Amino acid sequence: TKGAAMVTAVASRVQAQRKQIDKVLALFRLTQEQLVGIQNKMRVEFEYGLKKDTHPLATVKMLPTYVCGMPDGTEKGKFLALDLGGTNFRVLLVKIRSGRRSVRMYNKIFAVPLEIMQGTGEELFDHIVQCIADFLDYMGLKGAQLPLGFTFSFPCRQTSIDKGTLIEWTKGFKATDCEGEDVVDMLREAIKRRNEFDLDIVAVVNDTVGTMMTCGYEDRNCEVGLIAGTGSNMCYMEEMRNIELVEGDEGKMCINTEWGGFGDNGCLDDIQTQYDKEVDEGSLNPGKQRYEKMTSGMYLGEIVRQILINLTKQGLLFRGQISERLRTRGIFETKFLSQIESDRLALLQVRRILQQLGLDSTCEDSIVVKEVCGVVSRRAAQLYGAGLAAIVEKRREDQGLEHMRITVGVDGTLYKLHPHFSRILRETVKELAPHCDVMFMLSEDGSGKGAALITAVAKRLQQAQRE
Ligand code: GLC
Repeated sequence: TKGAAMVTAVASRVQAQRKQIDKVLALFRLTQEQLVGIQNKMRVEFEYGLKKDTHPLATVKMLPTYVCGMPDGTEKGKFLALDLGGTNFRVLLVKIRSGRRSVRMYNKIFAVPLEIMQGTGEELFDHIVQCIADFLDYMGLKGAQLPLGFTFSFPCRQTSIDKGTLIEWTKGFKATDCEGEDVVDMLREAIKRRNEFDLDIVAVVNDTVGTMMTCGYEDRNCEVGLIAGTGSNMCYMEEMRNIELVEGDEGKMCINTEWGGFGDNGCLDDIQTQYDKEVDEGSLNPGKQRYEKMTSGMYLGEIVRQILINLTKQGLLFRGQISERLRTRGIFETKFLSQIESDRLALLQVRRILQQLGLDSTCEDSIVVKEVCGVVSRRAAQLYGAGLAAIVEKRREDQGLEHMRITVGVDGTLYKLHPHFSRILRETVKELAPHCDVMFMLSEDGSGKGAALITAVAKRLQQAQRE
């Protein structure tokens, strides 16, 4: 009959649509073989970055940090810490008590307006110093001369613990006249310009390093620091003899890998989708930080948005209507992705979140959106897993161990907020590095506490040298 024919027609249309959707989702599913391939390529890039000859062109920069030792528990004192490069800018006062290994922190969060992130370097550093002044005022510390550790979460070429030349901006920053300049000098000059207080800048630190240090304070086995947040990066302790850029063969030094640049030589092209390319092209640094753009909080939502736009264009979502909202960059922040993917959420609530984002969805739409978020974040966690497996396996082989236990200190909104990311990351590492026992340790405010600890160690060594 006619009715039955109509039902069949609708059913086959739904089936055809499903096929189209599955085709897009399939692009994000990585096989075990592909993941092993990525792990191996990452390993090759690590070695490139460490070797003098290949270092200048390496996409994974493997930057020496001049952080050579873990805190030993004797550190103490009051320190200021700055944290620039994550979700917010923060100024902290950190009090470390020796013996008990206890740390107290007071902090204030400041917004960094877009026009400052992308204005001039002078404006950016004047803003930072303004925030420090506010904080000192607020804490009643005007005139106090405290040692300061600066967590600056961008790639820096260091020649000592208190010098760091910004190689290039990543994530959302683009302030002019900073690349190629020493960030400690820029901070000192801004303090001078203000002419109101003096600070003793002791260390410049990447957030991964601060994270590793914070966890290392409690667990001696912590020799890797991982950030899965706005950006994506990893640091680890490397044997000095393997670091060709730094003199000396004794002991270890922390290497900031800057693995976000992995793939910038095209070695990930085979897994890059058209959506990844669109995100890259719309970013502040096209062609750069390709691995970061497939894995970190700042970009995952953008990948999702590109897929949703494509599905809508094909008439598979939102009744084929691309709303103004959907055209807007940055609407899917990590916290929304995390909420949408939460298992405790009923579909109705997913629809409500989409509504908050200005996206009018049907029940079917919300199912598809959730699936899209799922494949994108799953791929990110697996890619992180492949990278991490590469470093722990390298460490195990370098030490000639059959089996190795290691702790990874982790921080970042993606790791902390997302309902599945951390589990998939752990599972992937387990599969790809079966001879390593990898423990994950959440860092409580690694950027602040870690910077203070590194500053404390550096101060202690400075004093020991003087004596
Ligand atoms: C970006 C930065 C890197 C930082 C990471 C996490 O990749 O280049 O230095 O560690 O983001 O914040």
